[in-house]
Amino acid sequence: MSTALVTGASAGLGVEFAGQLAARGHDVVLVARSRARLEEVAERIRREHRVRAEVVVQDLAAPDAVPNVVAALAERAITVHTLVNNAGFGTAGRFEEIADGRDRDQLMVNVVSLVALTRALVPQVLAERGAIVNVASTAGFQPTPYFATYSAGKAFVLNFSLALRAELKGRAKVLCVCPGPVETNFFDTVEVGRSAAIGGRFTTPEAVVKASLAALDRDRGYLVPGLLNGLNAHLTPRRPRKMVAAIAERITRTALGDALTGTVTR
Ligand SMILES: NC(=O)c1ccc[n+]([C@@H]2O[C@H](COP(=O)([O-])OP(=O)(O)OC[C@H]3O[C@@H](n4cnc5c(N)ncnc54)[C@H](OP(=O)(O)O)[C@@H]3O)[C@@H](O)[C@H]2O)c1
Repeated sequence: MSTALVTGASAGLGVEFAGQLAARGHDVVLVARSRARLEEVAERIRREHRVRAEVVVQDLAAPDAVPNVVAALAERAITVHTLVNNAGFGTAGRFEEIADGRDRDQLMVNVVSLVALTRALVPQVLAERGAIVNVASTAGFQPTPYFATYSAGKAFVLNFSLALRAELKGRAKVLCVCPGPVETNFFDTVEVGRSAAIGGRFTTPEAVVKASLAALDRDRGYLVPGLLNGLNAHLTPRRPRKMVAAIAERITRTALGDALTGTVTR
């Protein structure tokens, strides 16, 4: 049976990706830091879907994260058919006030480990004529002040995915999923809480993953789940770039309101 590896499979979208891929008959490998939550998810998947579910506990912000994951797969003789790079978290606020090192950790998880894991597993994905699913965000469609590194990282993920898709065309599928606000723990960890949704309409992990797997079936390059999110992502002008950033600054500052604490005033 072909195996899907899902990062960030202890919560939110990752749990849903793992469950829906298992429902399609994939064995699954679940990667994240929280061992107890991963074991719980794995146990439920084995019970409900009668597939193999393996747990790899790994902090993807650590420099040796990807070699550790690759070693764990080799030890268990697992070959990956579908790689879902979903693990991630947001950082938000005035750039100079975000705790030192937090943006670095965020970029390690959201960008550096995503690329490294893709590089490490792409030979397996190609051999299996499988798929790579990268989770970006609607934040990746424009520069987003007060989410400066998060939005830039997600823009990287979107462009990296589209470029890789063009390279791998006909040999493996590559899909980039760009959700708007989804009901997950994301908003418990980002500094500005639920105001990080910036007025967007929330959807469920179940709906996002269902739409993602349907998009993968149709070999689409990227997906913005939800009509309103799609309109926002596609109708937002891209130029003049400085003006787009200035308008985004106003919109985001207004949406964040009191959540944007600090001493710098305008
Ligand atoms: N929710 C939204 O509104 C939204 C919108 C657009 C894009 N996204 C993207 O969707 C993806 C999934 O997020 P979510 O919404 O499902 O949030 P979530 O419920 O907070 O789940 C995040 C997952 O990432 C894992 N993770 C975080 N830091 C990690 C680290 N250092 N090492 C390994 N795993 C780590 C977490 O596991 P552990 O804590 O156990 O390590 C958890 O399984 C992220 O890439 C996020 O940027 C979310």
